[in-house]
Amino acid sequence: MSSTFCTGKSQKKTSDASPQGADVKVLNLSKWFGGPNNRLKALENVTMEVPKGAFFSVIGQSGCGKTTLLRLIAGLETPSRGRIEVDGRQVEGTGWERGLIFQEPRLFPWATVEHNVRLGLPDRDSSVWPDLVAELLELVGLEGFAAAFPRKLSGGMAQRVALARALASTPRVLLLDEPLGALDAVTRARMQKELLGIWHKRKITMLAVTHDLDEAILLSTHIVVLSERPGTVKSVIPIQMEYPRDRTSMEFNRFKQELVKLLLEEVS
Ligand SMILES: Nc1ncnc2c1ncn2[C@@H]1O[C@H](COP(=O)(O)OP(=O)(O)O)[C@@H](O)[C@H]1O
Ligand SMILES: [Mg+2]
Repeated sequence: MSSTFCTGKSQKKTSDASPQGADVKVLNLSKWFGGPNNRLKALENVTMEVPKGAFFSVIGQSGCGKTTLLRLIAGLETPSRGRIEVDGRQVEGTGWERGLIFQEPRLFPWATVEHNVRLGLPDRDSSVWPDLVAELLELVGLEGFAAAFPRKLSGGMAQRVALARALASTPRVLLLDEPLGALDAVTRARMQKELLGIWHKRKITMLAVTHDLDEAILLSTHIVVLSERPGTVKSVIPIQMEYPRDRTSMEFNRFKQELVKLLLEEVS
């Protein structure tokens, strides 16, 4: 079974072989916080390539630097060492081509659903936004809720608005930091399906952090396992299974066991 798994190094080979090329390249990336006397290393020498249109999930212990990695790719933090490229261009600050979704929806409570989604649109052509917002709300299953205020929405609906807002700028890469982590099990399962549907429809490159191994196996083309802090790439595991995936299948459970093993190796 170990032949199904590869290290960060051999992953490089896989993505080099991809006809579409890499969408996100993380090269020898390190990040530390604090000054010389209280330096905290969050990430150490992280290298990975996310091919265009892939669905990468990142797993690893709490505090190993997953959120920091996403924030660096989003341009909300700057690398201490190394660099990040998206579509061949070095990341320097935030950009519309990179959408970001957090665990909590972070909606503006004073604005309607429609207005919240509109806030995700680059300010280029205001004449197109009504159609675009309607299309996005339909995509995330929120037709008829344009005029609603966030306080009237369930957790799942609010996260759908956040998703629509992140998709408004037609990003090529969507960065998701435990986006379904706060939802109940049924809503979560429904949204996993919807996320896959959107990924298929929009051909977006996805990079998601999750604590849920089932979710990672259900959704991902590849799973990146980070070591404990300072996080570094321990393994990149291609999940070569047809969609939709059956979580009761033997293959699924083999992947799960292997992930558990890799994560437990990190617990000292
Ligand atoms: N802005 C910051 N300043 C200082 N330390 C930080 C900052 N952001 C994250 N850290 C630290 O970096 C480490 C990695 O954090 P984080 O990326 O949030 O981990 P994860 O998302 O894997 O749980 C943690 O020890 C955290 O306390
Ligand atoms: Mg985190």
